[in-house]
Amino acid sequence: MNDKLLAIKQKAEVEIAKAQTAHDINNLRSHFIGKKSELNDFMKQLGSLSPEERPAFGKQINDIKVAIEQLLAAAEVRIDTMLYQNSIQSSQFDYTMPGRPYKIGSLHPITQVFHKIEDVFISMGYQIAEGYDIEDEFHNFDALNTPKDHPARNLADTFYIENAQQSGDRSDTASNELLLRTHTSTVQIRVMENYAPPIKVVSPGRCYRNDKFDMTHSPVFHQIECLAVDIGLSFADLRDTMNTCVKKMFGSDCKFRFRPHFFPFTEPSAEVDISCFNCAGKGCPTCKNSGWIEIAGAGMVDPNVFKQVGIDSEKYSGFAFAFGIDRMAMLTYHIPDIRLLYENDLRFLRQF
Ligand code: PHE
Repeated sequence: MNDKLLAIKQKAEVEIAKAQTAHDINNLRSHFIGKKSELNDFMKQLGSLSPEERPAFGKQINDIKVAIEQLLAAAEVRIDTMLYQNSIQSSQFDYTMPGRPYKIGSLHPITQVFHKIEDVFISMGYQIAEGYDIEDEFHNFDALNTPKDHPARNLADTFYIENAQQSGDRSDTASNELLLRTHTSTVQIRVMENYAPPIKVVSPGRCYRNDKFDMTHSPVFHQIECLAVDIGLSFADLRDTMNTCVKKMFGSDCKFRFRPHFFPFTEPSAEVDISCFNCAGKGCPTCKNSGWIEIAGAGMVDPNVFKQVGIDSEKYSGFAFAFGIDRMAMLTYHIPDIRLLYENDLRFLRQF
């Protein structure tokens, strides 16, 4: 190889090995293989050589150029690695520290039960209707055919918001006072006031009663109300709808039964029990050895309720029921005390 070419290569090796920055590399690139480089001058001389000499000399120049390009590329990698190492060493950040654990929250068990049962109703073609937590006596009691002297209207049972009388006896109040709704049945009225049959709605929500907090009672609790109004609906439709809900929520082995009951707004009325899934009906502490657990109130919409909202009870019939959601959550997740659902103790909530 031409001595001069060899000298260029050797010089390049020495210089490139000394490069410390990307800027150095750029300078060296233009110095050794750029347009004004010595190597390029040799390239220009090719034309003056004889045709025999030209290919061999051209190849030598090219080999040197490729070799220098490789040296530059390797030096670039060396510099990048060096910069990265330096930045790690000079920063305060310890890359070897384990990461902080990142806790992902979860939905409250009551919300989870709501979602599950809402899905069941939606799959049966129901729509969700929301009502108000603050209601008036008309929607909570009067329109639901509840007499003025009904015990549920008593201050001991219902939280009134305005002008609450201290007497406790509310049988002579003619006004329409505001209160915290005691059940989601208020939404039955709100929906029927605004929509004509056929109606198929469920309304999930909070309810309030003047109960003391204990293992099984809370002054705030949750229900989901179901209302269907159409031509020709019967108790069999109520039973069938209830059956689907219970099976989907508690499994296909779960049985349920109606117990005759009284609600002012349904006739006939029933309370609904499901077979205890803890002991499959044999009897255990969960079901207080009865084999059954009360889960809902239900019935056929009373014609007096239809009258209040201007629906013709000769033409239409309907059924309604409400599940207690807190009870469902307690049974599903084996929660022994309702207060756990309201205390927001993270040790409890993190289990869901
Ligand atoms: N509103 C009743 C209660 O809270 C339950 C119920 C709803 C009963 C619908 C019949 C029909 O106890």
